[in-house]
Amino acid sequence: MKIAVGADHAGAGLKDRLCAFLRELGHEALDLGTRGGASVDYPDFAHAVAGAVAAGQAERGILVCGTGQGMAMAANRHQGVRAAVCRDLFDTGLARRHNDANVLCVGARVVGEGLAEEMTRVFLETGFEGGRHQRRVDKIGPNPP
Ligand code: RB5
Repeated sequence: MKIAVGADHAGAGLKDRLCAFLRELGHEALDLGTRGGASVDYPDFAHAVAGAVAAGQAERGILVCGTGQGMAMAANRHQGVRAAVCRDLFDTGLARRHNDANVLCVGARVVGEGLAEEMTRVFLETGFEGGRHQRRVDKIGPNPP
């Protein structure tokens, strides 16, 4: 799978580690930055990753900031993007099985590196259950009722 990955300064270190982990798993990691610890604005990287997913340039996305929250808020502005803030493996599995999440948002100040790697594995290996969950995902939008 081709995965677009982005982070702000708070998430850059974890983002680098997750890119290496993706490659170890045999995936293609499209690293859209940031690099290093200089202060940047998280929406710039959320829009880059979400835009790549929305355009079909990547099948999935992973975004890392301090909490994951700001990244998800910005990424979810893109049509067809379902970005989920996940804190553990249960969250991550259900975001895939029930919500068909295509962008995983992780907080580097919240989640340890080992757990973030396992969340990445679950995010990539867990399928969407469809059925009643497809109806509910369809109702998310793009246009609210
Ligand atoms: C940066 O300090 C922090 O606000 C950012 O990484 C993120 O947590 C925002 O949601």
